[in-house]
Amino acid sequence: MKILVTGKGGREHALITALSESPESHEIFAYPGSDAIATLATRVDVPGLPELITWMQANAIDLCVAGEEAWLVKDRGLANLCAEAGIPCWGPLKEAAQLEASKAFAKYFLKRHHIPTAAFTVCTTAEEARAALTQFPIVLKFDGLAAGKGVAVCPNRDEAEEFITDVMEKRIFGAGNLLVEHCLTGPEISIFVSVCDEHYHILMPARDYKRIRDNDQGPNTGGMGAVASRQLAEPMMMERIEREIVQPTVTGLIQDGLKYRGFLYFGLMLTPDGPQVIEYNCRFGDPEAEAVMPMVRGDFARYVFEAAKGQPQPDLIHFAEGWSICLISASAGYPASSRSGDVIRGLDQVTGARVYHCGTRKNAAGDFETNGGRVLAIVAQGTTRTEARDKAYAESTKVTFDGLQRRSDIGQMHFE
Ligand code: AMP
Ligand code: GLY
Repeated sequence: MKILVTGKGGREHALITALSESPESHEIFAYPGSDAIATLATRVDVPGLPELITWMQANAIDLCVAGEEAWLVKDRGLANLCAEAGIPCWGPLKEAAQLEASKAFAKYFLKRHHIPTAAFTVCTTAEEARAALTQFPIVLKFDGLAAGKGVAVCPNRDEAEEFITDVMEKRIFGAGNLLVEHCLTGPEISIFVSVCDEHYHILMPARDYKRIRDNDQGPNTGGMGAVASRQLAEPMMMERIEREIVQPTVTGLIQDGLKYRGFLYFGLMLTPDGPQVIEYNCRFGDPEAEAVMPMVRGDFARYVFEAAKGQPQPDLIHFAEGWSICLISASAGYPASSRSGDVIRGLDQVTGARVYHCGTRKNAAGDFETNGGRVLAIVAQGTTRTEARDKAYAESTKVTFDGLQRRSDIGQMHFE
């Protein structure tokens, strides 16, 4: 089979590794991929989405797997164009991908289908937003692209006013509405589900660490680490999540005529009143994919292929018992900025963990160097959380580069 994966980061490196470890051998392509991904997949160099579709048709690609979200909503949508070209695509149509692209769309969807989520108001002006500040803390969310900076959990009116001024008057993120949401409390958990029309298959849950520094301090990032294990949620909680959140979401998609084939990521908060949806993402998480993918057993490539064609066979894969822990190494300046060009040392010393490349490139000497904010994901498994954690940290200390930032409490904080 010929498989093309879109994306270039650690998530795609992990997905491509899992596809390449499937029992049958497949020819794998990546668009655009990275120097590290190039050891497993042939990189495709085309200027944009229409050309990619033409290239896939010309090269008889059997399956397109959407890694990152951007292409799903760009132009006429990756999955929409694949559908027209007759290429099975694992990733939803543009219309359904609005669940991630528009926070207001997602909130109206949740409300319409009676799925538990924080109460909210969609505000079009600063005055409306100010009027909606009825209690504190309160959560404000810009409904548009904001490079991960569009959400503010405001403990008091002053901070809320400041965010409203920045977003709705100074327009620091450009035009767009502001959502004012009740603030929920409780542990967060990410649930990954393969959705294929009216069918769904719940995969392994995970938890990511969004803040740059230990003890959840400092600004938000794309994710500084992740933990994956079945044991993250009790069976009774998983049943409740399935009944109150996953099933009604899949039914809601069908009722709304939103065709969905792909991974669907539920960002949940386990509040005292039960699980509630914080957000949907129309793809696997990053760095959660790096933690979950090494736990996949069975035939992942065929699993995705059959589901993308509309004939899901969940029994083609299962998940290892135990724990998987992913540690991100980030470059100097992240998340405000990032530094490229720092040479990475010690990669060949890592023997007891997997290394996925998030943002690296090869320099003229053929050595990997930093090329972005999140640089590497180092991932280890163990029967217990402590075993996985100790292994991941022992291996990660072998890898260094100037300016490296890494949290020391991944898999510890929120558990002990
Ligand atoms: P989002 O971009 O919607 O996932 O929000 C980013 C982060 O903000 C989440 O991971 C939560 O930690 C926090 N957050 C978002 N919405 C709420 C809410 N309603 N109550 C409390 N925290 C929230
Ligand atoms: N780990 C959060 C995300 O993938 O958006």
